[in-house]
Amino acid sequence: MQAYSSARDEFKGKADIWLDANENPNETELNRYPDPLQLKLKTEISKIKNVPLEQIFIGNGSDEAIDLLFRAFCEPRLSKAYIFPPTYGMYKVSAAINNIDLVELPLTKTFELPSSEKILSNLKSDGLIFICSPNNPTGNSMDSERIKEIATNFNGLIVVDEAYIDFSINKSAISLLQEIPNLVVLQTFSKAYGLAGARVGTAFASPEVISILNKIKPPYNINSLSIDAALNVIKNKESIQNQIDEIILEREILRIALSNLTCVNKIFPSDANFLLVEFTDSQLVFAELISKGIVVRNRNSQIKNCLRITIGTKRENEKLMNVLNEIV
Ligand SMILES: Cc1ncc(COP(=O)(O)O)c(C=O)c1O
Repeated sequence: MQAYSSARDEFKGKADIWLDANENPNETELNRYPDPLQLKLKTEISKIKNVPLEQIFIGNGSDEAIDLLFRAFCEPRLSKAYIFPPTYGMYKVSAAINNIDLVELPLTKTFELPSSEKILSNLKSDGLIFICSPNNPTGNSMDSERIKEIATNFNGLIVVDEAYIDFSINKSAISLLQEIPNLVVLQTFSKAYGLAGARVGTAFASPEVISILNKIKPPYNINSLSIDAALNVIKNKESIQNQIDEIILEREILRIALSNLTCVNKIFPSDANFLLVEFTDSQLVFAELISKGIVVRNRNSQIKNCLRITIGTKRENEKLMNVLNEIV
């Protein structure tokens, strides 16, 4: 297919008068189309992630990258995609929207990936493998050696979704990009960087994969306000790091406090900005919290008696503990 060629694709130089894109000429700061390839933002991302520009794609949230990966690299009704539940729900939804057969290979009881032999014996074709690390909703990270082993034995793309990597001490799979040409790493500005409302997600991959994603994306998929917002948080990276440190500290404080409650059976280890907690009766706790104006995520249908609790501010976490103590 021929990619759409926008006015901004066709002329990138400097000029005084712009009469090529049917924009309104009256200056409002938003009267011009944004850069289709977001080069200014990619340049900053390239510096902090140490990845060349041509290996960076920016999507309308990582959800857009997930959808585009299905569209570009899977053939409806013929390709397969592989996921390891319980995991992030959008892989399944995107597979269904794109009419791709989804193979579910459940994580072990401790939420680890199944053995490489088991995974490899189930991989029947090319397509996509999604590994979420740290995983949502379990919070744990996946073994990078196993990810490498699967990738090197698979003809399709292996997508490692690192939406929560900033809350983890583990190394990003970005460092494996040169070694593993069929690797795609997803990250996002929605979690640690505090821009869920701006919808900015990144995919890091080989230049070949990135050029295909660029070819099929809507021409102006990231709006000017979101580009500026992302540039702004990168500029204030130090304060973002302080917030991340605080969230990690609060995660530990909350974990200890929760472990003292009799209504809590288990708290799963977390490398993310949430805790997965097994209660003796999660439905009751969920309803009680709602009645006190506190909303957590009920994951009972995925993992029995479990609630996923996002780490809030110190004050919010204390309030949560006060209410939970009352329930006890
Ligand atoms: C694992 C994972 N990947 C991706 C996303 C979506 O990220 P974005 O806001 O960048 O679309 C989420 C959101 O909760 C997530 O948990």
